Amino acid sequence: MKSTFLWGSATASYQCEGAWNLDDKIESIWDVYLHENNFENGDISSDHYHHFEEDIKMMKEGGQNSYRFSLSWCRILNQDNQINPKGIDFYNKIINCCIANDITPFVTIYHWDLPNYLQEKGGWLHSNTCYAFLEFSKVCFAYFGDRIRYWTTFNEPRWFVFNGYFIGNYPPCHQNIEETIKAAFHVMFASALVVQEFKQKNYPGNIGIVHSYSPVDGIDQTLATKIAMRYADNYCNNWVLDTAVFGEIPIDLLTELSKKYDISYMKEEYLKIIKNNTVDFLGLNYYSRVLVKPYTSGETSLIVNNSGKKAKGTSKVIIKGWFEQVANPNSKYTEWDTEIYPKGLQDGLVKAYQKYQIPLYVTENGIGYYEDVSNGIVNDVYRISYMNDHLLALINAIDLGADVRGYFTWSSFDLYSWKNGCEKRYGLVAVDFDNQQIRRPKASYHWYKSVILSNGKNIK
Ligand code: NOJ
Repeated sequence: MKSTFLWGSATASYQCEGAWNLDDKIESIWDVYLHENNFENGDISSDHYHHFEEDIKMMKEGGQNSYRFSLSWCRILNQDNQINPKGIDFYNKIINCCIANDITPFVTIYHWDLPNYLQEKGGWLHSNTCYAFLEFSKVCFAYFGDRIRYWTTFNEPRWFVFNGYFIGNYPPCHQNIEETIKAAFHVMFASALVVQEFKQKNYPGNIGIVHSYSPVDGIDQTLATKIAMRYADNYCNNWVLDTAVFGEIPIDLLTELSKKYDISYMKEEYLKIIKNNTVDFLGLNYYSRVLVKPYTSGETSLIVNNSGKKAKGTSKVIIKGWFEQVANPNSKYTEWDTEIYPKGLQDGLVKAYQKYQIPLYVTENGIGYYEDVSNGIVNDVYRISYMNDHLLALINAIDLGADVRGYFTWSSFDLYSWKNGCEKRYGLVAVDFDNQQIRRPKASYHWYKSVILSNGKNIK
């Protein structure tokens, strides 16, 4: 691995900070949605707000040289778009703490915690939200741009748009295909607006986008399967990646959509901004590939397992007329129905680099598990094996020519996992949520340190 390779771990503001109503922070859609429905929430979570120094120090002691985190819009700007100095102060402290520990900050501007007042005005269905996001980003660049060299506009547009507008299990909990397409378009437009701002003002460093990457495989080599794979790739990946890197939404996807839906809000002036403002690099979050077969029957149906073992085996994706996702009987799956398939990372990185020819970072990779953290060290051998196999896949991809410049495991420490709550643990460091958020490194933390110290050489 090159000496500049980023070896890190990742978190997101809502999932780890806690302090949901401290220091003049306003409410996000997640605060409101989880409170109103009495769902498990991130009010306290890992309380990174008060533990960030300890957390960053542990990253340093664990050999890591980069920390991927997100900025909470709700801490930085209030409802009247006024800057909240306490929010600026908090992120200044995080960034400065990273730098003092030789940790390169890798910043996500938006990791799903939209201010609730913007949702009330239409959220991502309204182009005003795109311009509000631009204003927020301008503040981030102005206050933090002197020290940040890696920016990403959005984390996983597919995941928050599809869950929020199609499946309906994330706020704003809509189930409407037309809205899904519109929200998706606005998010990609907003991303381009922010890239434009970054470039026009000549901020130092690079800007990218983070995608929930699901490389597509087919069950066989038939033409019907290849067509299903193309549909699945457009649905899973291309509308984010092609749009961000080439500045073009795949034309066969638009052709298909325009037959059924009104897409006149995709105005020429917006498309021009998308075309002219493409990203410098891609952040790819990899958890699994997607295995597909041609569509057979049934209505469009998307079921995500948010309940873990109680719902094991219930996940389903059928897009009517396009494709169906199938399980692989030979693979292992997590309790949340994620196929464990490291080869997908190797193939996916090679494919992405061949197609896009820009630097790639694996911005998330990790395994969710039920763990008892109440005493002693968590001996998470399954996480070590998972990370080992995925790092080997990454190294193979580099050997095959892919320009991969960093790896961030999800997550730096245990945190709140959206609808899965806190019992789905991903951290290198255990957080005892019942006992003052005490932190204890897991076996994987020490193992990861040894991997970093060997610069990947002890990956088997
Ligand atoms: C992707 C998301 O970015 C993150 O917020 C989430 O918790 C992890 N995947 C794990 O599911």
